[in-house]
Amino acid sequence: MLPETALSKSEPTSSLTNFEVKDEDLPAFRDMKFENINELHLDHPGASDEDYRRRRDYIASLSKNFRETGAITDVEYTEQEQAIWRIVATRLEEIQSSRASAFYLDAKKKLGINTERIPQLSEMNKRLNKLCNFRLAPIEGLVETRGFLSWLSYRTMLCTQYIRHHSRPEYTPEPDIVHEAIGHIPNFTNCDFADFSQFIGHGARIATDEQLEELGRLYWFTVEFGLVEENGELKAYGAGLLSSFGELENAFTDKVERRPFDLEQVINTRYEYSDMQPILYVIPSYAYLKETTRKYIESFGGK
Ligand SMILES: [Fe+2]
Repeated sequence: MLPETALSKSEPTSSLTNFEVKDEDLPAFRDMKFENINELHLDHPGASDEDYRRRRDYIASLSKNFRETGAITDVEYTEQEQAIWRIVATRLEEIQSSRASAFYLDAKKKLGINTERIPQLSEMNKRLNKLCNFRLAPIEGLVETRGFLSWLSYRTMLCTQYIRHHSRPEYTPEPDIVHEAIGHIPNFTNCDFADFSQFIGHGARIATDEQLEELGRLYWFTVEFGLVEENGELKAYGAGLLSSFGELENAFTDKVERRPFDLEQVINTRYEYSDMQPILYVIPSYAYLKETTRKYIESFGGK
């Protein structure tokens, strides 16, 4: 069951503990707001490709099924889609072999994520569930911040299933299956990381608008662009780094200032979505990130 304190903005939190989430504890996915959720912006490489748009809309529609039935529908990816995956996954794997965190590389193997074929959310969901009681739920596109982060409090991440446009395999302006499966999903095999994600989710549910902005920055500099120190070396674990050739290479150059993780600094550091990241933060361990975040979220109720 969920602690009552996590459900209401007016109730202060006392102390956060992780709890197991059972299927019956989940709120109904069909109650999610999804206005314009599968809108495609004009700067998307597939914006003027009618076939691509139809296909993307079709795959997105499968996540509406999920909200009605609770079952993840597997996507029968086309040969063209599989080819995009092979190109991107192969090139990323080359760079990741020296730059990605060791735990992440191992997690990819555990989840069966390889360069040959696009993994199905249903398969990865089963494994994550067993490892750290974590879940994946298909979604048709970007969701507003509070809604998206709040689902993490149920140890659930909303994930897209479609893939980027073939004209620019190295680029996508929106989350796609490459970003989700290669960037985010392996991290949830780490129970400290899964717990940390759940704390962020709790925070999103009780945060003021200002605190939500801070949480967005914490998410950005960890889940999306985090570096970790492993055996004296810096490695990437953030999804925005692990799923982008450019960002992953850039992260280890002189163009980037790599700072030790400092929560107060992180939540007050602004970032730009569209530029290469000039500042990255290095956590000493996932356990440290979890405990620091726990204390931070516990402070929300008292403000
Ligand atoms: Fe992401």
